[in-house]
Amino acid sequence: MASKSVFVVAIDFGTSYSGYCFSLASGTDQIRQVYWGTEHGLKTPKTPTCILFNQKLEFRKFGYDAVMKYKSLPSSEADNWYFFQNFKMTLYNTKVTSGMKLKASNGKTLPALTVFSESLRYLKEHALNTIQEASFQTVCDLEEITWVITVPAIWSSAARQFMRLAAKEAGLISDMISEKLIIALEPEAASLWCKQLPQEGFISENSDKKKFEDSPGIQYVVVDCGGGTIDITVHEIQENHYLKELHKAAGGGWGGNRVDENFTDFLKKIFDDGVWDEYVKSHPTELQHMMYNFSLQKCSASREEVYIHCYYNLTRVAACKKDISHFFKKVEGAVWCDGVIMITYEKMKSFFDYSIKNIIGTLREILDKPEMATVQYILLVGGFASSIILRDAIHQAFSKNYHILCPLEAQVAIAKGAVLFGVNPHSVASRVSARTYGVAVTAKFDGAIHDFHKLRVSKADGYMYCTDLFKKLVGIEESVNINKVAHYDFYPTEPDQTEVCFSFYCTEKQDAQYIDEKGMEWLGSCIVPMPDTTLGKKRQLKMDIKFGLTEFKATCTDITSKQSRVVIIDFLAV
Ligand SMILES: Nc1ncnc2c1ncn2[C@@H]1O[C@H](COP(=O)(O)OP(=O)(O)OP(=O)(O)O)[C@@H](O)[C@H]1O
Ligand SMILES: *[C@@H]1O[C@H](CO)[C@@H](O)[C@H](O)[C@H]1NC(C)=O
Ligand SMILES: *[C@@H]1O[C@H](CO)[C@@H](O)[C@H](O)[C@H]1NC(C)=O
Ligand SMILES: *[C@@H]1O[C@H](CO)[C@@H](O)[C@H](O)[C@H]1NC(C)=O
Ligand SMILES: [Mg+2]
Repeated sequence: MASKSVFVVAIDFGTSYSGYCFSLASGTDQIRQVYWGTEHGLKTPKTPTCILFNQKLEFRKFGYDAVMKYKSLPSSEADNWYFFQNFKMTLYNTKVTSGMKLKASNGKTLPALTVFSESLRYLKEHALNTIQEASFQTVCDLEEITWVITVPAIWSSAARQFMRLAAKEAGLISDMISEKLIIALEPEAASLWCKQLPQEGFISENSDKKKFEDSPGIQYVVVDCGGGTIDITVHEIQENHYLKELHKAAGGGWGGNRVDENFTDFLKKIFDDGVWDEYVKSHPTELQHMMYNFSLQKCSASREEVYIHCYYNLTRVAACKKDISHFFKKVEGAVWCDGVIMITYEKMKSFFDYSIKNIIGTLREILDKPEMATVQYILLVGGFASSIILRDAIHQAFSKNYHILCPLEAQVAIAKGAVLFGVNPHSVASRVSARTYGVAVTAKFDGAIHDFHKLRVSKADGYMYCTDLFKKLVGIEESVNINKVAHYDFYPTEPDQTEVCFSFYCTEKQDAQYIDEKGMEWLGSCIVPMPDTTLGKKRQLKMDIKFGLTEFKATCTDITSKQSRVVIIDFLAV
């Protein structure tokens, strides 16, 4: 049994920015937050998720320090150092394995696990120092801390487990099934933060006005607008302030970084004739400066044209081909004015089109469902939610039918809410399954319904059975209570078998007959020994599963020999 923690530290490990918040585990009335970048004249609640390793593959810097150091490297050295940014997106929409590699900006690769775990190790050390300064006591025993790491709700189970593995590598926890690490879902964390804000608006955080959570029955959509992903969830407030999920997690990779990418696409179009490609290849650090400048400009709140400084080497590479102003003749919305690129407000908005169209489209699709008819609020959180262009678009699309709210520090709502989640993981009382989950079983062969390819005959007693059958345990879009443990009984197929292998699968279909159908995904297996064969096929096997959690946990037991195995399904096995 895990010992009681003194502190809860929640790490929001974002695609663009990362940070953490913490509080005493005994009460969350004071959630402490950390500001970053003060050495560089900045003060932000998160630091860039950028990490730098030297040529010997040793960790050097994280965050603003990594960005600044990398920018200051002479280009001969920059080519040998390993700089990573936006790497969290590599865990979305791909097959995640523990051995996967990441490409640094110098084109060379490192194991993804090293990049993630060194980042987490840095944040861990930083947090321990901060706690020490704040409490005048050294955290001697890591058991005193419960860590929370947030992940997008639309991430696969394998990606979630990869974060757990990285946390173990980083020394946050000592083993993979440690209860000292809680994986929280980003939009849920944000929802927990928002529900204790005043109902009539999120202007002030501490007011005696009626809180959201004081109105049971209120239903709202939370949209976490991050740099990488847009993560959507729908919640209803219960009598006891707990949350009930009403719709399965939705969203996609349409975060704020798409805006930068669409801007880069545009630059590439302007600087044709191979100019842009050469620039990207030969001057990565300068490009870094230029993109940083753009990322500040896109946050402008003025609804006016913006000016992007065209850096020296880009100008130089371009001038080798032709007079710079000629590059701008073929494009609309950008004008060359003496070393600076002027971009019209219309053009600037067009860089947001792809993100916005997808966000609005997905929200519409969810909200138009008849069962979502009583949803009244749209809550926007995450750094990208600060964008005036995004907010204008959401208002235009939805303000007629919904109240649209955005907390003051939209970007830290996730980390603060994750602290609340760490203190009380049961506050999200039920979730909607995003997939159909099941296990592979056998059954007595029935020629009327079974495929003859799946017929097997037992050597021991001639029993004819159908193999590879999919037994549904929980269906897609089914609401699952997090406290509920589902029990299932199974029996061995062969009287003399001394172990049984449970193989878990999932699909986006409602149900399936066989585990090798199209759209089936193997999640992992667990082997339970059943050494005592005296009872033959009458030996009972019990499986207990908790489904509503952010991670999937099963206990399989052979009743006869009392052998049992706990598995957090190994999603990472290849
Ligand atoms: N005022 C603004 N206007 C436009 N974009 C903004 C503004 N403020 C922040 N952003 C964008 O928001 C994103 C960062 O938000 P946030 O920190 O919530 O993301 P993240 O947590 O790193 O990403 P994810 O949640 O997808 O992993 C960046 O793309 C940033 O450029
Ligand atoms: C923006 O990027 C997306 C995805 O990368 C792409 O599909 C879209 O066409 C781009 N839009 C513009 C205007 O370049
Ligand atoms: C970005 O470019 C604009 C226009 O040239 C300039 O005024 C501004 O100082 C630049 N900002 C940074 C951080 O380089
Ligand atoms: C232009 O690129 C060269 C070579 O990469 C670099 O040494 C120089 O500092 C760059 N110039 C500026 C103004 O950044
Ligand atoms: Mg985020």
